[in-house]
Amino acid sequence: MAAPRQGRRYRAVLTGASGGIGAAIAARLAPHCALLILVGRQREALEALARSLRGCDVQIVCGDLCERHTLSAIAATARASGGIDLLINNAGVSSFHAFETQDPAAIRAQVETNLLAPMLLTRELLPLLGAAASAQVINIGSVFGSLGFPGFAAYGAAKAGLAGFSQSLRREYADSTVAVRHFSPRATRTAINSDAVKDMNRALRTAEDTPEAVADAFMRFLSGSAASRTLGGAERLFVLVNKLLPGIPERAIRKQLVQIRKYLPR
Ligand SMILES: NC(=O)c1ccc[n+]([C@@H]2O[C@H](COP(=O)([O-])OP(=O)(O)OC[C@H]3O[C@@H](n4cnc5c(N)ncnc54)[C@H](OP(=O)(O)O)[C@@H]3O)[C@@H](O)[C@H]2O)c1
Repeated sequence: MAAPRQGRRYRAVLTGASGGIGAAIAARLAPHCALLILVGRQREALEALARSLRGCDVQIVCGDLCERHTLSAIAATARASGGIDLLINNAGVSSFHAFETQDPAAIRAQVETNLLAPMLLTRELLPLLGAAASAQVINIGSVFGSLGFPGFAAYGAAKAGLAGFSQSLRREYADSTVAVRHFSPRATRTAINSDAVKDMNRALRTAEDTPEAVADAFMRFLSGSAASRTLGGAERLFVLVNKLLPGIPERAIRKQLVQIRKYLPR
């Protein structure tokens, strides 16, 4: 597998760069980059972030990742800048809601943004990544992609799909110079979580990370060679038990359901 070389300067695309985790990753990644292409929908936020970064060529692609022309614009920028060797599929949306009454548009947006867009962007950029001496695709998943949780049916389905995509593609490219890897944060204090989620997390005493701590863990993951990483010791254990003995988390979450329903929009 293609492990990063010591002292290497990346040529990277980072989606969701204007968000909580994305901006924290950008700040840490920039000093290790020759090129950093920031992707998001809010031009002002991307420009402010770009101004704060030092030490590398920073480019901006502003657009919706669910639209075909945004993917083409990212590929065109990467090509015109001399190629890339790192793609971080970090952009994501989450909508905590009772599934039965969830707006179909919100279900579609979660599947398209969290699963389809990273798949199609990866496909678009694979020729450029494959041309590099060694390259990585890192998909940002979620603990909820390995551990189904009430109120996150669409989000969990999309993130579980992203984990499956990462593993399949990784195996398809095992004899190449492109490594496909998967990094799953646990609950993190960013704008992706609604007030209802924040209140529920407090009530359930769910551990939460800061985006800065997630970005630090991401940088350690980036410089290693593990296929995947889930943040949080308890969460890693819960995910493992969920695979081997799913009845145990099933019962634990069932006990929390009355409390979860107090916060679940319907
Ligand atoms: N925070 C958590 O609790 C948590 C836990 C586990 C995993 N994660 C994952 O971590 C990643 C980053 O999330 P975050 O917490 O940093 O969330 P965030 O602060 O809400 O940031 C999300 C980012 O994704 C971008 N984005 C969303 N939809 C997009 C679209 N259609 N086209 C282009 N960009 C789009 C947003 O851009 P705009 O600013 O233009 O909207 C923003 O930059 C996500 O994949 C998320 O699922 C988060």
